[in-house]
Amino acid sequence: MLNIHSLCTEYTNELGQPVKAAQDINIEVPEGHFFTLLGPSGCGKTTTLRSIAGLERPKSGEITVSGVTVYSGSRGVFVPPNQRGFGMVFQSYAIWPHMDVFTNTAFPLQVGKARYSRAEIEAKVMKVLAAVQLDHLRDREATKLSGGQQQRLALARALVMEPKLLLLDEPLSNLDAKLRELMRFELKRLQRELRITTVYVTHDQSEALALSHQVAVMNQGRIQQIGSPRDIYERPQNQFVADFVGSTNFVEGIVRSCESEADCYVIETEIGALRSVSVERVNVGDKVVLSIRPEDVQLTDEKPADVGVNSWQAMVAQKVFLGEAIDFRITIANRTLLSRTHPSVRTPIGHPIWAYVNPNKSVAMPAVAS
Ligand SMILES: Nc1ncnc2c1ncn2[C@@H]1O[C@H](COP(=O)(O)OP(=O)(O)O)[C@@H](O)[C@H]1O
Ligand SMILES: [Mg+2]
Repeated sequence: MLNIHSLCTEYTNELGQPVKAAQDINIEVPEGHFFTLLGPSGCGKTTTLRSIAGLERPKSGEITVSGVTVYSGSRGVFVPPNQRGFGMVFQSYAIWPHMDVFTNTAFPLQVGKARYSRAEIEAKVMKVLAAVQLDHLRDREATKLSGGQQQRLALARALVMEPKLLLLDEPLSNLDAKLRELMRFELKRLQRELRITTVYVTHDQSEALALSHQVAVMNQGRIQQIGSPRDIYERPQNQFVADFVGSTNFVEGIVRSCESEADCYVIETEIGALRSVSVERVNVGDKVVLSIRPEDVQLTDEKPADVGVNSWQAMVAQKVFLGEAIDFRITIANRTLLSRTHPSVRTPIGHPIWAYVNPNKSVAMPAVAS
């Protein structure tokens, strides 16, 4: 539905030098999908979204929507933003304070090119207000809405034109934590219900994982990895992705052998040999880094049957009780690992404990030369 090919967008800074904000962006979003650009502040998410909207003029590349080219650097095509027909909600969404909920939502229909009868406007507005669950507040003044209701109103206004593409830039960032989580569910329900193709921008990894069909992780203007939330979390391709999406333990090592049929590598590390998987092919002798999520470092007081195969005796160095889990810091051969464990594990600090890592949960990636 949305296809972006080799998109580059640059700015000029105060010194007149080019700032490469989005570089070689390639994205394909199928009809009805929820696609998220995830990355730290300044990585180029907003620039990419504004380029799709037509609010920035890219330097090069192609953008097509349902087969229609809205931007092409090589062919000199640039469709102005108001002719692209996309719905948008930005971080600092503006609702009109002197209008009530109904009038706010109806506004885009009244100023647009198409002419609608009063009855048509009534039907369209009430349909989207029902979808965002604001229909019972149609006559309420916009300023008398809670933060979450204002957010939903901004969404209703973006949806009322029934856009083929919805662009959302950190639309939940102004809300407190509880409301943000609630809105996350509502947004997901609404998007799935209406099947509107959506490109969503956030720096919040749990938001990205919770909402998306596909996530593109960005850093310094470039996409690092595109995949399903589970792919991104369980099979990160590089250290940036592993570190940015969730927390992880990095363990350096060298590839000692490779069992191709099992797709399993044996990696020699500072804590011993570890059976591991890898997203990209690595070769015997390569320097790699293993990413092991804290919840995949399993702890037990009982000695496992086959010590030596991804299991070690460790020492409890520190622990933090979190209610639903306990974070243990354990040491193995001078190395500290973080383990997130069920609170039933009660081994005291300074005592020995057994640790085990499933080979499937130890992910090798090429070490970055530093
Ligand atoms: N209008 C602008 N002029 C100059 N530089 C800009 C402008 N907008 C963004 N940038 C720079 O482009 C880079 C990407 O910014 P942005 O796309 O806003 O990142 P994000 O949305 O991921 O936080 C940053 O280095 C930012 O400072
Ligand atoms: Mg931004």
